[in-house]
Amino acid sequence: MEIENLSMQNKTSLQEETGLQEEIGLQENISLQKKADLNGNSYELDCENRNSIKNGLDLSRKNSLDLSKKNSGKLQIGGFSSEGRVFLAPMAGVTDLAFRIICKRKGCDLLYTEMINAKALCYDDQKTKKMLNIKEEEHPVAVQIFGSEPDFMGRATEILNDYPNEILDINMGCPAPKVVKNGDGSALMKNPKLAYKIMESVVKASKKPVTVKMRKGWDENSINAVQIAKLAEQAGVSAITIHGRTREQYYSGNADWDIIRKIKDSVKIPVIGNGDVTSIEDAIKMFIITHCDAIMIGRGAQGNPWIFNRINNFLKNNIDLDELRKIELKNVEETDLTSIKIRISDKIEKYKVDEVSNQEKIDTIIEHLDLAIQEDGEYVAIREMRKHIGWYLKGMKNSAKVRNEINKLETYNEVVYMLKEYLNNFQN
Ligand SMILES: Cc1cc2nc3c(=O)[nH]c(=O)nc-3n(C[C@H](O)[C@H](O)[C@H](O)COP(=O)(O)O)c2cc1C
Repeated sequence: MEIENLSMQNKTSLQEETGLQEEIGLQENISLQKKADLNGNSYELDCENRNSIKNGLDLSRKNSLDLSKKNSGKLQIGGFSSEGRVFLAPMAGVTDLAFRIICKRKGCDLLYTEMINAKALCYDDQKTKKMLNIKEEEHPVAVQIFGSEPDFMGRATEILNDYPNEILDINMGCPAPKVVKNGDGSALMKNPKLAYKIMESVVKASKKPVTVKMRKGWDENSINAVQIAKLAEQAGVSAITIHGRTREQYYSGNADWDIIRKIKDSVKIPVIGNGDVTSIEDAIKMFIITHCDAIMIGRGAQGNPWIFNRINNFLKNNIDLDELRKIELKNVEETDLTSIKIRISDKIEKYKVDEVSNQEKIDTIIEHLDLAIQEDGEYVAIREMRKHIGWYLKGMKNSAKVRNEINKLETYNEVVYMLKEYLNNFQN
C-alpha cells in the first residue's frame, strides 16, 4: 500500500508525525497523580542529595517497594506469550546457536538471532540459512532480519513462516557502515515512509508476531524514535525494542533511557528497553525509569550469561512490576539518570553475593565450546570461541596471559587442557 493511501486514521497520525498537533501527549506529569503509598523496608529507592538532582525522581516522600509482592507476570507480544521479561539482544557474530543455548540454560526468556540478510535469504544463500538453525531447546526465539526493500523483506518473511521461531524482528538499529550504506539497519530511521512500508510488508506476510528494534534516531539532530514507534504500531507491529543511542553514537556514551519512557508513553504495544544493562541494579532502574515491559541485554551477557538467572530470580521473587511503575519520574525529559541513586538493601545483596565460581566459569566455557563444535566443527568453533573465552575470563587472575595462549591454540583438547590447568592454579 502506498503511504499516501493509508487509512484515514493512519494518515492523521502521519500528519502528526510531521509536526502537527500531537494526539498522544507525553504523560510526563502523571507522577503527581499516581504517587502511591509504597511501604516496605527491603528495597529503597533513594536520592540522598535531592537538591543536586535536576528534576529527578520526586522523592518528597520516601519511596520504597513492597517486595512481598511477587511475579513480574507474563508478557503478551501479539499472539506470543512470554513467560519472562529478560531477553538476549541480537548481536552479529555473537548470538549464534551455541551462545543462545548457553543463555537459555542460564535463564534467558527470549533469544534473538544474529541479524539475517533478507535478500540473501531470498536468494537461498546457504551461509545465511545456516544462521537460521534453531534447536528445540532454545525456544522461544526471535529471528531478526535486515533489509530496505519491502518486497524482499516480505518474501524473506514468507520463507521464515516455515521456520520454528516464535517472533520475527526487523532491524532498524544496525550502525555498521556496510549495512547503512545500502539503506539498511539504522539508515531506515532516516526514511520513515520506507520504514513504514517495510514494517507493513513484513506484518502482512508474517504468520508470527513482528517486532522492531530501533535506535533513538540517526543523529542528535534527527531524534525520531517516537515517530517510528507510532508508525510501527500503526503498521501492526507487536512490540518495539529501543536502544537509546543514535546511529552516530554507535556504542559510545550512555544509552538514553528517557527515550524509552517517551516511547512507552506514546504507544500501547509492549516496549522492550535496551542499552547498558549489566547488573540487577541496572535492570531494576530500567524498569523504574522507563516503565518498559521487558529488558534486553547485549554486551552485559557476553562472558556473563548468568546475568539472566540473576535478574530473573530477583524479579520473579521480589518485584512486582506494577509497584515499580508507581515510582514516577517528575520530568522524564530533564532527568539526569546518572544522578539517580538506587540503594538496594539486603534482598538484592543476596543475589549479588552469589558470585559465579571459577569452576563454573570454566565448565561453562567448555560447555559452550562443545556446543560450538557441534554446530560449526572444531576449526571454526575454536576461532569463534576465542572472543567468548576472553569475555568469560575477563577479571580473573592472570587471565590476560591465558587468553593470549588460548588464542594461539588450534584444537579442542589443547584449549580444554589449558583451561583446566588454569583452574588448577586457583585450587592449589
Ligand atoms: C557485537 C555486537 C553486534 C550487534 N549486532 C546487532 C544485530 O545484529 N542486530 C541488532 O539489532 N543489534 C545489534 N547490536 C546491538 C545490540 O543488540 C544492542 O542494541 C546494543 O549492544 C545495546 O545493548 P547493550 O548495552 O545491552 O549491549 C549489536 C551489538 C554488538 C555489541
